[in-house]
Amino acid sequence: MSAAPATNSDAAIVAEGLVKSFGETNAVAGVDLSVARGSVTALLGPNGAGKTTTVRMLTTLLSIDAGSASVAGFDVVGAPGEVRRRIGLTGQFTAIDELLTGRENLEMIGRLARMPKAAAKSRAGELLERFDLAAAADRNASTYSGGMSRRLDLAASLVAEPEILFLDEPTTGLDPRSRLAMWGLIEELVDRGTTVLLTTQYLDEADQLADEVVVIDHGRVIARGTSDELKDDIGGERLELKLKDAARTGAASAELSRGGAEVIGSDESEGTVTAALTRGPLEVADLIKQLDGAGFALDEVVVHRPTLDDVFLSLTGEHVEGGEDEAKEIH
Ligand SMILES: Nc1ncnc2c1ncn2[C@@H]1O[C@H](COP(=O)(O)OP(=O)(O)OP(=O)(O)O)[C@@H](O)[C@H]1O
Ligand SMILES: [Mg+2]
Repeated sequence: MSAAPATNSDAAIVAEGLVKSFGETNAVAGVDLSVARGSVTALLGPNGAGKTTTVRMLTTLLSIDAGSASVAGFDVVGAPGEVRRRIGLTGQFTAIDELLTGRENLEMIGRLARMPKAAAKSRAGELLERFDLAAAADRNASTYSGGMSRRLDLAASLVAEPEILFLDEPTTGLDPRSRLAMWGLIEELVDRGTTVLLTTQYLDEADQLADEVVVIDHGRVIARGTSDELKDDIGGERLELKLKDAARTGAASAELSRGGAEVIGSDESEGTVTAALTRGPLEVADLIKQLDGAGFALDEVVVHRPTLDDVFLSLTGEHVEGGEDEAKEIH
């Protein structure tokens, strides 16, 4: 894997001025992307931002109204077959056949990719093992839990060992444990050299997985950078300490500042003091100890991690619009 910087010639995915409308809806309204080989880019945005539409254009599933895109060096319009041979896609809407077992699903996909029968069989076995599905391999996929279905779906997109993987909201709806397991699997793939474009509504997911984050809203890119750059813009993690005695808010705030903490707010009526967390994982414990040592009793301790909503608030001055749930036309 090359360590060269992301230039266009070295990019696994390039999009320039991508546009797609559905009737009056400008689902994607001019998106530029450049994803370096072997890197991970997260497309971060709320419901209806245009994430899936972008991914569907890049994966040749949807025509492009304007702009251009190439994937693995091939134009998605001019050479869709070459693109398809080099990519895997795990969609928001799974490609798994529920009436088949996990093993049958993977073997069938291998056969559809024209793998010889024996090769398809051994690849299926290997993936089932790797994704912790071996014990459930011969059960119908309809009996799988949410996390198992996602893992099977991811395995399905890897049967043909793609260079480039598109993951559309890989962890939405998963419980925390399955989510961590999925993150681990994605990181493992990236370590082996796979380029990943993933979409997500979660800042922490982009933070965990992505080298670069592209924030989109209403079909447009509204910010891009590393996750650290984004978090710097929005202020990073905060610790909120609620005192038993609200009258001592000011004194507690002064005590924390004296110890070198960066106090970013206090609210006497609530009895809360908020400090920026900038000094690593032990800082929470240090601050609590410091207050405790100075005789301040605490009622509540909350670590606030920035969310997509915080990103939007800092970028646009507005909250993420609540669930854009208008009926979607399905074509
Ligand atoms: N086939 C379609 N017909 C009509 N409108 C569509 C179609 N597909 C998407 N849209 C609209 O385009 C916009 C972008 O949708 P898209 O599915 O790309 O968003 P998204 O970012 O993937 O959202 P979500 O997080 O909910 O998956 C939305 O307003 C959606 O209603
Ligand atoms: Mg989507």
